[in-house]
Amino acid sequence: GDFITVKDFADKLGKPVNEVIKALIFSGVMAGINQEIDFETAAKAAAKLSVSIKKSKEESLGIEEDEAEDLEDMNLVKRPPIVTVMGHVDHGKTSLLDAIRKAKVTESEAGGITQHIGAYTITLNGEKITFLDTPGHEAFTAMRARGAQITDIVILVVAADDGIMPQTEEAINHCKAANVPIVVAINKIDKPGANIEKVKQELTEYGLVSEEWGGDTICVPVSAKAKIGIDDLLEMVLLTAEMKELKADSNRRATGTVIESKLDKGRGPLATLLVQKGTLNVGDSILVGSTYGRIRAMFDDKQKKIKSAGPSIPVEVLGLSDVPVAGDKFHEVKDEKTARGMAEARKIKERSQLQSSVRVSLEDLYSQVK
Ligand code: GTP
Ligand code: MG
Repeated sequence: GDFITVKDFADKLGKPVNEVIKALIFSGVMAGINQEIDFETAAKAAAKLSVSIKKSKEESLGIEEDEAEDLEDMNLVKRPPIVTVMGHVDHGKTSLLDAIRKAKVTESEAGGITQHIGAYTITLNGEKITFLDTPGHEAFTAMRARGAQITDIVILVVAADDGIMPQTEEAINHCKAANVPIVVAINKIDKPGANIEKVKQELTEYGLVSEEWGGDTICVPVSAKAKIGIDDLLEMVLLTAEMKELKADSNRRATGTVIESKLDKGRGPLATLLVQKGTLNVGDSILVGSTYGRIRAMFDDKQKKIKSAGPSIPVEVLGLSDVPVAGDKFHEVKDEKTARGMAEARKIKERSQLQSSVRVSLEDLYSQVK
């Protein structure tokens, strides 16, 4: 609703109640701990509080964050789960996603190897789910780590004829580090050498004990090729998502993460962004690291032009000044001028940091020569 008690408001801001009450007094409102205040009053008090917040943030980030960022998250609504598919090379991650999406990405991949993060949204019984496909090749550790950090749930794909391999283990470790729940898809059960029980046995060595064995890890036997168990897997993913009660405010300025980026010869810098909070619209201005821009066009995962994207939705955007760094956060800001100013401030700061580190190392060098 539009009203919130002072105590709940303090909790939302992560501030002691007495500080919030003080801020309210300073903005001309006398309120007790259980009193309800309206949005405007809350916004004024938050603005008072953000004076000190901003100062420390400015030091570390070199930018001004959105004013009273936490306050904007007051209207939380359900959002789609973000599900990342991880596992050892060739265990069938892309094939599984193809089966889920009824698409044929695997066939178009060079050498049959995924070399980037693919982002797709499907609609199942009216509910959206966003999937991120990650590469299993050992060279792409950073992408797997990024995938685990921005996800709600991981589908760990283990080929039933191969079992747990080095990048399966690595994926498990990323999930543990990011505290993300794992749903195991034991894939390729159509193959003659498939051994589901052996995979379950191996999983226990990593603390993943399947439900049938008295643990709490969901294991679903599937075949991406023969299209077996796909519905069961999706049902388990949705169940896990339900339990997490995923929410976001879609009515605030957008923030999120750069999934991947490249320079397109004809169209210029191109970035796939995953919106995590708020709604991103064509015409919005964003700041991404020391890159900025006003969004000229936006496309969904089927290359269809769209005008806006809410929480958990991946979009490809055109209009950035430069190719942003994958993994960086993006923030929508007031207008392009503000975005450019902030980006330039960041660039200057990066440069001066670079210069001071160069000077330090030169001095080190001289002292060593002496
Ligand atoms: P990377 O992205 O390179 O890590 O590989 P991936 O895990 O995405 O594997 P991909 O989907 O490209 O599949 C690898 C090979 O396994 C392909 O030849 C698929 O056709 C095959 N494959 C995938 N799933 C199944 C399955 O359920 N059964 C059988 N028999 N083959 C499968
Ligand atoms: Mg793949």
